[in-house]
Amino acid sequence: MLTYEQNQLITDVSPGTPLNKYWKKFWLPVLRSAALDVGAAPKKVEMLCEKYVAFRGENGKVGFLYEACPHRGVSLAMGRNENNSLTCIFHGWRFDAEGNCINMPTEKDQSFCNKVKGQGFPVKEAGGMVWVYLGEGEPPKFSDYAFNLMDADHVRPRASYNEANWLQNVETLLDSAHINLLHSDTTDNSKIPQYGLQLTAGNNTPQYTFEPRPYGLRSYSLRDNPNAELNNLRVTEYVAPGTAFIGTTDDEAGFAIIVLPVNNTRSLQWYIYWDARQPINNNLPDFAIDGTDPDDDNFAASRQGTYMYGQDRAAMKAGESWSGIPGVIFEDYAVAESIPVVDRTREFLGSGDLAIVRMRRILMERIKLAQDDKECVFADECDYKSLRALADMIPKDTDIKQHTYAKEAARKADFKDEHAA
Ligand code: FES
Ligand SMILES: [Fe+2]
Repeated sequence: MLTYEQNQLITDVSPGTPLNKYWKKFWLPVLRSAALDVGAAPKKVEMLCEKYVAFRGENGKVGFLYEACPHRGVSLAMGRNENNSLTCIFHGWRFDAEGNCINMPTEKDQSFCNKVKGQGFPVKEAGGMVWVYLGEGEPPKFSDYAFNLMDADHVRPRASYNEANWLQNVETLLDSAHINLLHSDTTDNSKIPQYGLQLTAGNNTPQYTFEPRPYGLRSYSLRDNPNAELNNLRVTEYVAPGTAFIGTTDDEAGFAIIVLPVNNTRSLQWYIYWDARQPINNNLPDFAIDGTDPDDDNFAASRQGTYMYGQDRAAMKAGESWSGIPGVIFEDYAVAESIPVVDRTREFLGSGDLAIVRMRRILMERIKLAQDDKECVFADECDYKSLRALADMIPKDTDIKQHTYAKEAARKADFKDEHAA
């Protein structure tokens, strides 16, 4: 249970809030690279309650600017995208990809251009996504996750939006206890063995172990399986504030989710799949496709606005479905959206919620650090490259930490070999 002030602190991303300042310390993936065509209409982007536009010039470079023209506030989404720059159609002020004003047809003295500052933001493209830095000062070291280092055809980033505060989406990712309940239609059918969900063995009371990490938190959830030789271990890597690496039994394939606050009641949620061995194409697990639209810029579009995600009460009554909602992803979205911003002053957290308690504590500490202008990202201490979650069956006497360290060490060695090659 949180106080009202604590709940506000970790949910409210409005400009000027401590949380807004904290989020702006990170590189944020805001669009798929493929969503921006050379010379095409700029795309509107809302992020952290503020409005931006993105465009790609003839030289292939992406510009990311405030949407409002710094002259009289007209939308640059209507601007002309030509000559590697964006020109406002109202009075013709022109901006390069960095946001520098490079022409003012309405001014005799062009030196006025130099006074117009702060319109653009640093951009990087990696993992098939456009990443931006919206904060002040120098950006941190880029988050060079494995999927950001691979050839484009080995990574499939899928974007979607839902109408929920970002934090409850992140909490769902760290909540191991719900898997066998909310998603029991899927786990019962063992439809997705490669992601290890079926291995939860009907055990709804995972035992958590935590390790603080510079990037956030490593959360182990161990499920005792009394009817079998092997126990089930899931290891989730939480990278504050909005990223989680989710367990897969396949060490060469990976899966991560990144949640970003569009505003206080809308989230952008990335599902990122990659495979070091082969191009990923359409080779995604069933749950990644189930019920989703083919559009990778928003695979949830046709679901948005459907009442309770089309919950099928007849199927629930007939024992055909627990949740009445088709697909793992939309089960998660439905519960997240069911209350746009959860009132955490009224909750009762139990032992199944310990990962969430730890995650919130990290957030509160780091938001405070950001507010005091202290280091709060710790990017230089993070080995992003070898981050990967686990979903394993392990002998009952296994030391779960040593087991995980060994896998991590093997991945680090792989990266060294690749760089040496
Ligand atoms: S409002 Fe954009 S140039 Fe005047
Ligand atoms: Fe879930």
